[in-house]
Amino acid sequence: MCAASKPHLLLIGMMGAGKSTIGRCLAERLGWTFADLDEAIVAADGRSVARIFAEDGEERFRLLESAALAALLAGPRSVIALGGGAPATPENRAPVAGQWTVWLDAAWEVLWERVAGSGRPLAVSPGGFRALWEERRPIYQDLARWRLAVDAISPAEAARRIAGWMDGQGGRGGRHGRLGTGD
Ligand code: S3P
Repeated sequence: MCAASKPHLLLIGMMGAGKSTIGRCLAERLGWTFADLDEAIVAADGRSVARIFAEDGEERFRLLESAALAALLAGPRSVIALGGGAPATPENRAPVAGQWTVWLDAAWEVLWERVAGSGRPLAVSPGGFRALWEERRPIYQDLARWRLAVDAISPAEAARRIAGWMDGQGGRGGRHGRLGTGD
């Protein structure tokens, strides 16, 4: 096989799953760089996520998101926290599928509790949030190599379990297997 670049570790899942917090902990543990996709979008555009949605709409946000994701994936090996909607954009699926992707999963009520009132443009009503959660779960499941239920564990514990899973995969750089779970 050609010397393909080593996969990044991507954290996917709904808003409120703790992707950024857990990602920071994990990167620190591994000694890897951490990147947050929303932060990369904001740094490139100069406006907040909420302002991009309000001024240009979701479609434009998704274009910026795909561009920022491609730039991060082309960079040095990192732990990358994706925004909850990034895996739902069809163009992002192939690049994401080539990485080490961990799905941080939790009950929608737990997630809603964390994001209600946060100002996220797509966390406005419990009904709409639940519908997004239902729509996206099969997408996350399809892309993820591992699912970790995070309803009741701390970010540090989640990072510890993900690092352990990476070790079990063969030195934090092995091959794609079936979706496992951390329950
Ligand atoms: C979104 C999730 C947000 C942010 C934007 C849209 C989504 O990121 O990208 O508000 O569609 O789920 P977090 O998942 O980090 O909150």
